[in-house]
Amino acid sequence: MARRKYVVGNWKMNGLSDAIGEAQTIFSAADGHGTVDVAICPPFTLIGTMAAAAPGKAVGGQDCHSAVSGAFTGSVAAPMLADIGASVVIVGHSERREGFGENDAEVRAKAEAGLSAGLSVILCVGEPREVRESGGAIDYVLTQIAGSVPDAFDPQRLAIAYEPIWAIGTGLVPTVADVAAMHGAIRGALAARFGDAAEAMRILYGGSVNGDNAAELLDAGDVDGALVGGASLTAAKFVPIVAAAAALG
Ligand code: 13P
Repeated sequence: MARRKYVVGNWKMNGLSDAIGEAQTIFSAADGHGTVDVAICPPFTLIGTMAAAAPGKAVGGQDCHSAVSGAFTGSVAAPMLADIGASVVIVGHSERREGFGENDAEVRAKAEAGLSAGLSVILCVGEPREVRESGGAIDYVLTQIAGSVPDAFDPQRLAIAYEPIWAIGTGLVPTVADVAAMHGAIRGALAARFGDAAEAMRILYGGSVNGDNAAELLDAGDVDGALVGGASLTAAKFVPIVAAAAALG
């Protein structure tokens, strides 16, 4: 099955209101690469403004709570994201798993909350450096997949992002062969559990993706797109990654 390439910017905790123009520039440039789905996930504070400034474009959150409402000071629920124009949410990013102690069960509950709110979900997995070095990366990631992917979902609305923790923000990237092996293992595990639906799911790579390495990473087996941090903050750095995805169809 042909899966459309998907390139997502995770702005993390970056951007004030003057960054909306940059997002508009990115979305306009992405229009010229219509074979690629592009989304930007800014901080919560910018989602509403960005969605209003870029009608019809995919704007998303970087996290959501698993409950729809309640006494959870500081948290944002998935229906709240949808309410201000988000159509996407990232869950289980390693900066949430590590920095905020989120485990697989919580990540799964967040993914279910996002899906129930009508959002597309990008569910992140990835191993720490010592696990990669000890040869256990695939087992580690497949355990995360088993524990954090919900049982029932529309495969068009749930993407997996493989982000090796040691590659995030470091300039280090796995070899193309290692990326292909991991993505193939993820696809295999999804197929064993969900059958044909696994073929429709997109598996993104994330970790130090930039305009120079995007073409080869995006061309690796079972890589359907990229989740981009630092290089998604400006059109100058992000659009070449979208163009690389478009060139691959
Ligand atoms: P970098 O692209 O800055 O390495 O970040 C990757 C990431 O964590 C995206 O979610």
